[in-house]
Amino acid sequence: MMKPVEAVLLGAGQRGREAFGAFALRHPHLMKFVAVAEPNEERRRAFAADHGIPPERQFASWQDLLARPPLAPLCVNSTMDRTHVESSLGALAAGYHLLLEKPMAHTPEGCVAIAREARRRRRIVQVVHPLRYTAFYARAKELLDRGAIGQPLVMTLTENVAYWHFAHSFVRGNWRRYDESGPLVLTKTCHDMDLATWLVGATPRRVSSVGERRFFREENAPKGAPLRCHEGCPAEATCPFYAPAMYLGECTEWPVSVISLDKSFEARRKALEQGPYGRCVFRCDNDVVDHQIVCVEFENGTMLNFTVAGCTAHFYRSLRVVGGEGELHGHFERNELRIERFVQGVWPEIPTETHRVSAGTSAHGGGDWGVMRNCVRLVREENFDEADRSLQIAVAGHLLAFAAEEARRSGAVLDFKAYAGRFES
Ligand SMILES: NC(=O)c1ccc[n+]([C@@H]2O[C@H](COP(=O)([O-])OP(=O)(O)OC[C@H]3O[C@@H](n4cnc5c(N)ncnc54)[C@H](O)[C@@H]3O)[C@@H](O)[C@H]2O)c1
Repeated sequence: MMKPVEAVLLGAGQRGREAFGAFALRHPHLMKFVAVAEPNEERRRAFAADHGIPPERQFASWQDLLARPPLAPLCVNSTMDRTHVESSLGALAAGYHLLLEKPMAHTPEGCVAIAREARRRRRIVQVVHPLRYTAFYARAKELLDRGAIGQPLVMTLTENVAYWHFAHSFVRGNWRRYDESGPLVLTKTCHDMDLATWLVGATPRRVSSVGERRFFREENAPKGAPLRCHEGCPAEATCPFYAPAMYLGECTEWPVSVISLDKSFEARRKALEQGPYGRCVFRCDNDVVDHQIVCVEFENGTMLNFTVAGCTAHFYRSLRVVGGEGELHGHFERNELRIERFVQGVWPEIPTETHRVSAGTSAHGGGDWGVMRNCVRLVREENFDEADRSLQIAVAGHLLAFAAEEARRSGAVLDFKAYAGRFES
């Protein structure tokens, strides 16, 4: 049997523990963590205990770990967004291949610098864009590439975040502020920008965008709402964002697992009283937009119309591509794709071909484990060229997200090549 790829972990937070750590525990023949860097002692110890990491391989920061000669071939970087550039460049300089959480960087310059350094050192950098590795999007790509709807003309993608998820991550949580993480189009929808770039298979030509923070604002707070939900809110019986109803119920998995490592009721109650997740969603310090639309024209003529909405009842992504010979429709969470091909005549009966794919068991429709398996394979094969081709698409997708944000702020229609050219040295 092949030996697992050994890895070090930077950042044993939610993703470090629940995505990468869980993958290694579940697939001991594929990946084994041999060192961890995490400043939070409770998290560091918990991760080390789960993976049998001895004290001399537990570090309080990524800097301490990377100061050592490489302890494994692979470094998994699941620190928070704004640490990605420095720590990733450090890991590449130390000689590691890299499994890097999205967004790969919080600036366009950072994305370009990481990709350039990976090329210079011939290191594999796999960005964690799990959706590309799901059966659903892989089938959509295959259908488009084999011409199932003819020439793709217009692509419509939606990301429906769900009101409770949006409140958790983008109003109360880690990704609520530009200065702590980045714009929503990057922190949430760099996945969709990546998918669009990958599915269309061409470079963007022109980019425009509109969006704003419309709903999660002080003026929309129920009359008399306190700063924290538990402090006697007059809307506690009806507000869908009431924190105790979200976090003190039966569910202790994500997103509830984020508020406290200790899942007991008492620990969670204390976390709501003292931490960020007990705050009224209308009276937080969030400043990222809650709705945004991005329009792109690609070099091959395909047009993209993408909408992300924070206030949706359900949590799902959808896809519709109109082509010269038919349409492709897809609902990611239902794992269903449908091809409707044009036939002769007027008011014809349109034949429908349905493709049902099976979702994997991991998060993001099975993509989490798909992307990790892919990374393990690339490292085992030392397949730099394949990794580099995939990384170039990831960089283009990230630059598209930054361009969309600049277009939203300025109101201008951006020439993508000129925009991206600003970051080439
Ligand atoms: N691919 C996806 O679909 C997806 C989904 C969710 C989050 N993410 C990304 O994953 C990353 C981590 O998100 P998370 O939810 O786990 O955040 P988190 O805050 O739970 O985890 C980050 C961890 O990094 C640790 N850290 C801080 N400074 C450090 C240092 N100097 N050295 C080492 N560790 C340090 C923190 O203590 C924390 O435990 C983010 O970039 C996020 O955007 C990706």
